[in-house]
Amino acid sequence: MTLSLRGSRPRSATFGATAEIAFQQPLHSVDVVLYKLCQPEIHRESVPRPRLGQTRRMVTLRPQTTEDLPLLTGNDNPFDDFGPQAPRDSPSSSDLDAAGGLAVVTDDGQTAGSVSWHWNQWGPNVGSRCPMIGIWLRPEYRGRGMGTAAQLQLVRLLFRHTTTNRVEAHTDLANVAEQRALQAAGFQREGIIRGAQWRDGTHRDGILYGVLRADPRPPA
Ligand SMILES: CC(C)(COP(=O)(O)OP(=O)(O)OC[C@H]1O[C@@H](n2cnc3c(N)ncnc32)[C@H](O)[C@@H]1OP(=O)(O)O)[C@@H](O)C(=O)NCCC(=O)NCCS
Repeated sequence: MTLSLRGSRPRSATFGATAEIAFQQPLHSVDVVLYKLCQPEIHRESVPRPRLGQTRRMVTLRPQTTEDLPLLTGNDNPFDDFGPQAPRDSPSSSDLDAAGGLAVVTDDGQTAGSVSWHWNQWGPNVGSRCPMIGIWLRPEYRGRGMGTAAQLQLVRLLFRHTTTNRVEAHTDLANVAEQRALQAAGFQREGIIRGAQWRDGTHRDGILYGVLRADPRPPA
């Protein structure tokens, strides 16, 4: 498996890059083996295997436009049910150092979904801040490797364009697709966050994931 980052700049993007998952090399790639060996034992069984035979899958992250907004509805699945939400009337900021979001775009230019981030703080100083990321894909684009590629791409952007040492994600205990996508993108499972999220009439446990700047990640 190779996972490569290209420096191409999409239209209207102030920054951006293309993540390409190309399953071109055999499974015994040294990088993949080293990456898996570096995962904690408790998670090794759940580290997804590269999907051999999958065709090239490219995902670009670019700033959102007003044309994207009707497509980025969200709120269509149990993990996203936070009650009625008004349609968004403006694109998210693409400022990586503040809360924001980007559009996830397919290799043929279709808007497949969005990624987002906001900053948490684990101590009183600026150096203790870190972004927590989120993702939503339109239903027809799920289960095709795009969630993995988009989150890997967002992590790369955050490490490249901010000084953060850590990127976080949080998902529901039952959201297996997101857990596997995060692990495939290099995140490590860090613990259960009890009763953290009020959603659909009850407080729900979630799982905190994190990836540090120095952590092993899928090879570029
Ligand atoms: C969660 C989400 C981002 C995952 O992205 P995706 O593109 O569908 O996932 P991928 O195709 O990259 O698959 C990642 C892994 O999850 C597995 N997977 C995908 N859909 C799954 C499902 N419904 N149930 C169980 N596993 C699933 C894949 O097999 C893959 O594992 P593998 O690498 O071992 O083969 C996407 O499904 C989505 O947008 N869901 C709705 C919104 C949401 O839940 N957002 C996250 C909120 S925290």
